[in-house]
Amino acid sequence: MANNVVILIKFLSLFVLILAASSDAGGIAVYWGQDVDEGTLEETCASGNYTFVNIAFLSAFGNDTDPVLNLAGHCVTLNNGCAILSSDIKSCQDNNISLFDYIWVQFYNNPPCQYTTGNVVGLQNSWDVWTSKVPATSILLGLPAAPNASNNGSGFILPSKLISDVLPAIKNSTKY
Ligand SMILES: *[C@@H]1O[C@H](CO)[C@@H](O)[C@H](O)[C@H]1NC(C)=O
Ligand SMILES: *[C@@H]1O[C@H](CO)[C@@H](O)[C@H](O)[C@H]1NC(C)=O
Ligand SMILES: *[C@@H]1O[C@H](CO)[C@@H](O)[C@H](O)[C@H]1NC(C)=O
Ligand SMILES: *[C@@H]1O[C@H](CO)[C@@H](O)[C@H](O)[C@H]1NC(C)=O
Ligand SMILES: *[C@@H]1O[C@H](CO)[C@@H](O)[C@H](O)[C@H]1NC(C)=O
Ligand SMILES: *[C@@H]1O[C@H](CO)[C@@H](O)[C@H](O)[C@H]1NC(C)=O
Repeated sequence: MANNVVILIKFLSLFVLILAASSDAGGIAVYWGQDVDEGTLEETCASGNYTFVNIAFLSAFGNDTDPVLNLAGHCVTLNNGCAILSSDIKSCQDNNISLFDYIWVQFYNNPPCQYTTGNVVGLQNSWDVWTSKVPATSILLGLPAAPNASNNGSGFILPSKLISDVLPAIKNSTKY
């Protein structure tokens, strides 16, 4: 287990905070925060296009350091640089896109912590650490929707394999 934690801190250095609608229904998720031309967070939430808005990325966290949220061209949390976002977040919450109860982990572009063809062990070990060590209500299994949505297909899982090999190994967690 200790090894897994070290691997996580070393390689899984990016994960995202998520604003999620209170609805239980599925919905489209989008990353916000890495392209200054994408519009404001408020506009993204108000578009009505998304059920989930991932504010990404948390570039440093854990080990008693202050977390750093790096929103590329928008802002960096160092020196209170993202305080400007608080009214946008309030506006998203008014649209029922709200809460910070979820942590959405990137199980791709992180080779030791992801699925490789026919082998669920890396992903499962990483999942077990996140669900047992991180005090969030839910951990979301962040996966690329298509091979070219990640670096060279990194972490992409065919839907049939996701259902047969991966979900059975992780969905027994109460945080799934
Ligand atoms: C919402 O979706 C519409 C229709 O696809 C698109 O034109 C618009 O740019 C989207 N807005 C945002 C903020 O994503
Ligand atoms: C955690 O922080 C301590 C003190 O700064 C440092 O010595 C240690 O290497 C860090 N551990 C990891 C896993 O980064
Ligand atoms: C948000 O959810 C509450 C409770 O379900 C509902 O009363 C309200 O109308 C919703 N607001 C919007 C903007 O959808
Ligand atoms: C990604 O792959 C899909 C399916 O192979 C293809 O239709 C699409 O054009 C590709 N997109 C990019 C940006 O390469
Ligand atoms: C991309 O993935 C393929 C198939 O896994 C591999 O053969 C190839 O070497 C990879 N290319 C790069 C640039 O990593
Ligand atoms: C869920 O099942 C997997 C695979 O059988 C196992 O390794 C893991 O410990 C289980 N987790 C919980 C919370 O029961």
